[in-house]
Amino acid sequence: MGNCASAIDAFVQRGNRASPAATAGMSASRRTSSSATTGKLSTLSSASTFMPSTVSGGDDDDDDPVGQILESPNLKIYTFAELKSATRNFRPETVLGEGGFGKVYKGWVDEKTMNPSKASTGVMVAVKKLNPESVQGMEQWQSEVNFLGRISHPNLVRLLGYSMDDNELLLVYEFMAKGSLENHLFRRGAVYEPLPWSLRLKILIGAARGLAFLHSSERQIIYRDFKASNILLDSHFNAKLSDFGLAKHGPDGGESHVTTRVMGTYGYAAPEYVSTGHLYVKSDVYGFGVVLLEMISGLRALDPSREREKVNLVNWARPLLSDRRKLSQLMDGGLEGQYNPKAALLAAQLTLRCLNGDPKRRPSMKEVVEALEKIESSAKGRMAREPRNSSRRGLVQSPRGDSARNNSSSRGR
Ligand SMILES: Nc1ncnc2c1ncn2[C@@H]1O[C@H](COP(=O)(O)OP(=O)(O)OP(=O)(O)O)[C@@H](O)[C@H]1O
Ligand SMILES: [Mg+2]
Repeated sequence: MGNCASAIDAFVQRGNRASPAATAGMSASRRTSSSATTGKLSTLSSASTFMPSTVSGGDDDDDDPVGQILESPNLKIYTFAELKSATRNFRPETVLGEGGFGKVYKGWVDEKTMNPSKASTGVMVAVKKLNPESVQGMEQWQSEVNFLGRISHPNLVRLLGYSMDDNELLLVYEFMAKGSLENHLFRRGAVYEPLPWSLRLKILIGAARGLAFLHSSERQIIYRDFKASNILLDSHFNAKLSDFGLAKHGPDGGESHVTTRVMGTYGYAAPEYVSTGHLYVKSDVYGFGVVLLEMISGLRALDPSREREKVNLVNWARPLLSDRRKLSQLMDGGLEGQYNPKAALLAAQLTLRCLNGDPKRRPSMKEVVEALEKIESSAKGRMAREPRNSSRRGLVQSPRGDSARNNSSSRGR
């Protein structure tokens, strides 16, 4: 972080306005997360720009009165020493995870003052500390402060404060008790049981609402890094998007940005963006389609350990998604008996629409939310109609009225 100090000075002098000049020369790729098999994209040239927008709470179409975007970030500024104290000196036991920016620690602050509190008192927060080797960290830190620091929405993680003291860059977020969706989908063990279908739908709807809000704001925000590891879950499995390090305002005049520096994550980034650098709001919809596919199949977007033709999930799954008889081959085995085939087919059709090669033919995130809500309510309606003794997982009501252990050809098929 050799040139961080001057970049921070420039940032402060401009009243928290990110300056391309301040970030020039800090444009290498983020380090690939150790847990993810999806690598970071980083074809470099010019730095992306960021201009804070005016106050907006979404366009006329936005029927979500909950979210809002402030004119300037409303955040608590911490000293490095305060965050050191909140995390017990960045003790290894407090590490929650690690990504391209650096390690994330658990910390404790006073609920009212937000000052560091004594161990295990007050509220928990997550403190992200920039790894000095992260050459692009300053730019991402600025983006996080400028975007997330101004936005409030139930499906976007809350940024509470930051520190840029002592040449160290840190971010303080609300604590998300259940961690990332990536862990729940792909890790196994006592803590990570397979997510039931109903919970997957709830998480997808929450994440879709978060994206829809960003897209509907006055100056659209393109999130640019939609993936399972950036969807965090609170104690009730409410989904919130985190990581606005790559976020960008939508194009002013035309339909797309042309970026010479392609950023994002392999496996999730839209094909038009990877091949031409054209970035659309609909590029986010493609990323959503990939996560939807991961949720349906329980498989990672990219996994080099799979057979060659299955390494890239989208390429392999596309023909299965469009064939109602083959769809069951793709569905996560752990979901058996939890969904009806009609709901699975609707989810598959929605996935295909999101993954359309032509961004214009992808649905808007508002349409995606509506489609998912329909799938969810049809599943709920179905549960309500079913006799009580068949609602237990794995049990189905046979035509004669006696319960039978579920199998692939029973419940709802
Ligand atoms: N607010 C939070 N509350 C609880 N845990 C968090 C929070 N933010 C991050 N984490 C944990 O830290 C891990 C690392 O997060 P981070 O966003 O730095 O990296 P990543 O998303 O895995 O990778 P990338 O850098 O590619 O985005 C997450 O997977 C999650 O387990
Ligand atoms: Mg992340």
